[in-house]
Amino acid sequence: MVNKFPKIIFSSSYFLYIILMILILFQISSPQETSQNVLCSSVPFCQRLMYSSESQVPLYFLDNKTIEITGTNKDKNNIFKAIIKHYNQEYISNPIDLEMTIYILKRGIFRVKIKPKNQKKFDLTEDDDIFEMKKTIKNSGIKISFGEKNTIIYYFSKKNRIKYELLINQSLFQLIYKVDNKIIYIINSKNLLDIEKIGKDFIPSENDAMTTIKMDMSIPESILLTGLPGRCGSSILSDTNLNWNYHFYNIDIFKYDYNQYNSIYGSIPYLMSFSYGGTIFSGFYWNNPSETFISLKTLNEEKRLIFLSESGIFDFSFFASLNLQHYYKTLNEYIGPSPIPNIFALGYHQSRFSYEDLNDIKKIDEKFDKYGIPYDSIWLDIDHTEEKKYFTYDIKKYPKEDTKNFFLDLDKKGRKAIVILDPHIKVDSWYPVYYKSKNNFFIKNGDSTDFIGKCWCGDSSFFDFFNKDTINYWKNLIIKNEEYFFSGVNNIHIWNDMNEPSVFKISRNTLPKNTIVKYNNQLYEHREVHNIYGYLMHKASYEALLEKYEGKIRPFILTRSYYIGSHKYSAMWTGDSKSNFESLKNTISMMISLSVSGFSFIGCDIGGFAEEGNINLYKRWYQNGVFYPFFRAHSHESVLRREIWLFSENDFDIIKKAIITRYNLIPYIYTQFYLYYKTGMPIIKPLWFWDKSELALTEFADIEYFFGNGILVRPVLDPAEDRNNEINIFLPENYRWYDFYDLNEIEKNKINKKTEYNINNDKIGAFIKGGEIICKKMRIRRSIKKMKNDPLTIIITLDSNNNSKGIIYFDDEESFDYQKDIYSLLNINYSNKEINFVWEKFEYPEVNNIEKIVIIGENDELLYKNNNIKTKLNLQNKEVELETIKNYENKKIEILRLNKFNITDIRKITLK
Ligand code: NOJ
Repeated sequence: MVNKFPKIIFSSSYFLYIILMILILFQISSPQETSQNVLCSSVPFCQRLMYSSESQVPLYFLDNKTIEITGTNKDKNNIFKAIIKHYNQEYISNPIDLEMTIYILKRGIFRVKIKPKNQKKFDLTEDDDIFEMKKTIKNSGIKISFGEKNTIIYYFSKKNRIKYELLINQSLFQLIYKVDNKIIYIINSKNLLDIEKIGKDFIPSENDAMTTIKMDMSIPESILLTGLPGRCGSSILSDTNLNWNYHFYNIDIFKYDYNQYNSIYGSIPYLMSFSYGGTIFSGFYWNNPSETFISLKTLNEEKRLIFLSESGIFDFSFFASLNLQHYYKTLNEYIGPSPIPNIFALGYHQSRFSYEDLNDIKKIDEKFDKYGIPYDSIWLDIDHTEEKKYFTYDIKKYPKEDTKNFFLDLDKKGRKAIVILDPHIKVDSWYPVYYKSKNNFFIKNGDSTDFIGKCWCGDSSFFDFFNKDTINYWKNLIIKNEEYFFSGVNNIHIWNDMNEPSVFKISRNTLPKNTIVKYNNQLYEHREVHNIYGYLMHKASYEALLEKYEGKIRPFILTRSYYIGSHKYSAMWTGDSKSNFESLKNTISMMISLSVSGFSFIGCDIGGFAEEGNINLYKRWYQNGVFYPFFRAHSHESVLRREIWLFSENDFDIIKKAIITRYNLIPYIYTQFYLYYKTGMPIIKPLWFWDKSELALTEFADIEYFFGNGILVRPVLDPAEDRNNEINIFLPENYRWYDFYDLNEIEKNKINKKTEYNINNDKIGAFIKGGEIICKKMRIRRSIKKMKNDPLTIIITLDSNNNSKGIIYFDDEESFDYQKDIYSLLNINYSNKEINFVWEKFEYPEVNNIEKIVIIGENDELLYKNNNIKTKLNLQNKEVELETIKNYENKKIEILRLNKFNITDIRKITLK
């Protein structure tokens, strides 16, 4: 007994010691929970300037004498330049003249840049520009009229019969943008345009540099504003208040909550307005990557906005259109199209933070085969590295040769490996990436030493992706790194995480604002450039993979941080969500905001990332994820494993069914990505794109969405809906609707009102819009690549006139040949009981055959009841009768065994 006593003391203190060590370790190796509340009042420049009163008198005027018209075209008139001057030149100690340049672009786009004269301010060079300005510059037809008070720049688009006009009021310094004589934007309408100057007594600090720029804008007659991602809040913008303004400051935010205004990992300062009763759509970009707040007030139907950015220049662009198609075409040309993804990226992705080792992931891979579940990629999170040193493998867990062989095996099954590469680099003099980059490629402190902060690996330095030398070094780490990327292995793609960039144990979880980056041989405070860091990183990764695969394979990059333009290089996901229904619900509004802003390749961790969820949530999340553009399951290291075979047989079956549904839909999804590339039309579309009724704009605005053109989705959003297998739905009028799963038509009395709808364990709310064509592949394979030659099943749903039309897109699914126009496009048209197949383009010959056509909703009773009416295929010189099953009750006609014919021989099928 006596002897035992000290032992107990020893063991309990030992125990305490262990706990302490774990806590210390955990402190170092995990992100702190960021304070989620960034109120304007807690950020000095916002507090100082957001609520300063409107000025009754203008502060600035445009100096007539300085107007200069130059340009890039023959007539040299597509660039307008002038100097803007402060009215009280005599009274302020250091008046700054502002140089304004207006670029006149095609399709009614105008871009305005205003810079303080003789000051060095961050602005991307023409070659690095995030906008496709060089390609959109207007080359003819511009008229400029000079008056005493105003200069008016205008042109008329003959094709679209629209007049675009920018009126520059000189004495008030206002810019008034008009389309067809209707005022769309009034810039500086309340005289708030201003720029802070560093006063004599002011010493800039990390918290405040007194370099803020401010501008206001009015949008008259706007019925709806949307955009401003990334936020976890409604896609429809509501007014701000004293506490809350829309905020842009990319941060690592763990388990974020719903908040209409707060920024999260990425920033796209873009607004879209539906004006004049929804007859004019207008877009506005505020391109400033420093911390930004935007306030919004609605007065009748006028929206008033104030933009505040902590540093940098004014760089804003705007455009407008009379219809959505033209609007998105314009946007697409201006921000550049999102390339069509390598098709594997549309499949199911299996991920976790982190798998144990190579054996673990090998077993996972085998289980997918054992259980007959398709999947397309396995993800290697940070623990595959040696001590979180990126570009290394922990060889005890991932022996090199075995890892390489595993990747090669994956390749044989058409699958890929995705490796994580973060921007923080472990400070370790034995780590080549560190010692080669030290003093050269990292973000600096003010005294030119490398900044060191904490991240996963403890002390870290952070790559300076503004610096071209860093970018080259980073690219070579990908292109020429056979140790990590293995020569002869062509199925590795990249995940860029923590690229806000995230820094642990520091105010606001990111780099101090007074750290220094180098861009174009100039030094800038990080303050001025913060929000574009992630973009520059994933862009470099994309370009590196492109080069590594010699331009033959479409690279796939997933990024957590993003900015305007990110869609051209990367997919994104919504980060560290919680595992609950609330988070699942939030994903919908987040995706809508991103998508309407030009970023469609988006998704969310299926199941939620952090916290233990439950199987009911997981099942519903998988069923919803089928209709996410990017479909990946991922979870935190602390939660129980969630590979689907770990669930009960019944639950397993339900989830497997969902994954298979996704694979069946791949031809449809791929076609939607082609349309997105070609037309800019978002893949996720809000209800209110087409329906401005009360319910579409309120209760259902953020809980229903279109996935592509044809499918309307209403996920299961809370435990009660899940338990009761009942949801409320709203289906816009003027359309016929069909249940996505059983293809039954929805009764008329359920349309255009809030109505209850029964679902079951296997399905959520998903509906096909009548008149659309959904193309599927029904064979189950290991991966999408293995489905390449499988035949198609085509679902033709009819609208109220018994018509339908759609397209199917074909290409080689992984190279860039489609950009050389090597693709095929099949138009399918159903009307008057005839299906016509017309090849709009036939440059890619390896198109798939059709095995089955299902026609839903044909109302002609005789067609079903008269057995003498046969379905016929018109071949060149003969007619062939087709095997058909008709069911009048379900209004369903199935045409079978079409794969005996070559798809190119099928031109017309007649049912009458
Ligand atoms: C944070 C990311 O959001 C999460 O998805 C990832 O698993 C961890 N970083 C570890 O890399």
